[in-house]
Amino acid sequence: MNIAVLASTNGTNLPQFFSDAKKLGIRCILISNKQDCGALQKAKNEGIESIFISPTGKTREDFDREILQILIQEKIQHIFCIGYMRIISSVLIEAFPNTIYNIHPSLLPAFAGGMDTDVHAQVIKKRCKVSGATVHIISNEVDEGPILMQKACLVEDNDTAESLKQKVQILEQEMLGNMLKKII
Ligand code: GAR
Repeated sequence: MNIAVLASTNGTNLPQFFSDAKKLGIRCILISNKQDCGALQKAKNEGIESIFISPTGKTREDFDREILQILIQEKIQHIFCIGYMRIISSVLIEAFPNTIYNIHPSLLPAFAGGMDTDVHAQVIKKRCKVSGATVHIISNEVDEGPILMQKACLVEDNDTAESLKQKVQILEQEMLGNMLKKII
């Protein structure tokens, strides 16, 4: 099985994800829109084929068409957005129906639309006692596609956005590993 990871951030979840994929005999490639991001570096460290595509001067659709060419060429069957900070256009959604998954750092539908530490900061600001992460299928509405998996954790009074991010990423890594087993 061949899968692609789309990523833009530090890539904290990626070493565990690549290791889980390897154990299951799944081949991964990584595509990023950020030239110097940790995700690209982590993929390289793990010996994962990694590709940077510059978004400069391209429409969302043209950028996604470039990605699509690579996905077809590499015979990709499933796509995981793991810290991917771009909205995906219908170009990819139509080419990969129900097979593009996003990991979002809250219990959707709560705190949809936010990104990364901003989401955790909002959770803390609202004084939520529970948070977590969600894996969902990407649809045309941001963070609105069908939910496949959720895991929750407690938010303690002394949590910061960073400490909550760390807790939630443990859950994200567990769910991503479970998703790999599920697609197999
Ligand atoms: C991921 O853990 C994920 O929760 C979140 O970005 C984090 C990036 O962490 N994804 C989104 O917000 C998608 N909307 P990292 O910087 O450690 O790679």
